[in-house]
Amino acid sequence: MKNLVDRHGRTFPYLRLSLTEACNYRCSYCLPDGYQADGRPQFLVMDEIVRLVRAFAALGMSKIRLTGGEPSLRKDLPEIIAAVAAIPGVARIALTTNGCLLPRHVGVWRAAGLTALNVSLDSLDPERFQRITGHDRFAEVTEGVDQALGLGFESVKLNAVLLRGLNDDEMPAWLEYLRDRDLAIRFIELMRTGENREYFERHHYRADEVEDRLIEGGWQLRPRAADAGPAREYAHPDYRGRIGIIAPYSKDFCAGCNRLRVTARGDLRLCLFGDFGIALRPLLQDDGDHDALVARIATQLGLKAAGHGLHEGLTGLTPHLASIGG
Ligand code: GTP
Ligand code: 5AD
Ligand code: SF4
Repeated sequence: MKNLVDRHGRTFPYLRLSLTEACNYRCSYCLPDGYQADGRPQFLVMDEIVRLVRAFAALGMSKIRLTGGEPSLRKDLPEIIAAVAAIPGVARIALTTNGCLLPRHVGVWRAAGLTALNVSLDSLDPERFQRITGHDRFAEVTEGVDQALGLGFESVKLNAVLLRGLNDDEMPAWLEYLRDRDLAIRFIELMRTGENREYFERHHYRADEVEDRLIEGGWQLRPRAADAGPAREYAHPDYRGRIGIIAPYSKDFCAGCNRLRVTARGDLRLCLFGDFGIALRPLLQDDGDHDALVARIATQLGLKAAGHGLHEGLTGLTPHLASIGG
């Protein structure tokens, strides 16, 4: 069976697989104060990951994004990348990382078969960066990004969550940064989770305000690839870099949904918001369960809702995104 298609006519060539819930940052919008990862969490191991990815590939998935938590905290990340790259049907392997281990490891990841890289960078000001993430790692992240640009990735993208009062005045600095760099910076509208409600009220900033100003400034919308994520991407003749807008509260955001998620504990999540996850792990213990696994994924997809519950207040049920893989 090829090409997962749901009852709303959407296809799913893109899997987001979380490798760990642990993170070495404490981004103020993401992890709650005092958050401690479970004492000894049992995240998916290599054999389970390979069986899982084989099942999704059998269903037509061709792009996989490795997320977390912080996926580079997994010591076996290079081996995971290489094993996933060897699975027939997997054409693209992307990683979303907070970037602090880039200078040490990005060359190894690329050599193992990583094809694309997304890096969180919420501010171009080192002090603000520290205030937002809780860590003084601005130099490592920006050096790592520049290193990555020389490694021939099909894309390097940065993620900045828009935060009123914290980083909402940095467009001139971003434009300067983008002038000669072949990368995309994506501005992400803060999403409300069950754990950042008060923070959300204080710092939420609408992405369409930024988008309107870009269009006034001559930025032009680019066509979207079938396996691209949720960003609307803009280009400008005077800039080498591009700008993406990720606006989950905008109309029709979910109509273009093309991805499924699996958490670090092996639960299938049909949406970032509003479902509790379906356990796939029992079917990841033996190669002989391949067909049953494929069937379970295909059946569950039939239950995928048309959209997230962000407009209906369902976010009270949603834990921080580090536990789901963002
Ligand atoms: P590419 O286009 O493949 O680079 O993927 P991406 O933009 O989805 O990847 P990334 O992991 O960098 O995610 C960027 C932001 O988009 C994060 O804040 C994600 O939580 C958000 N995001 C990604 N997919 C979804 C989704 O299905 N729903 C919502 N609401 N947000 C999403
Ligand atoms: N709203 C928007 N983006 C978020 N991220 C984490 N939590 C949130 C949230 N509540 C972003 C991170 C990272 C990406 C994977 O998800 O900044 O760039
Ligand atoms: Fe870690 Fe990413 Fe959450 Fe920041 S947003 S605390 S880097 S998981």
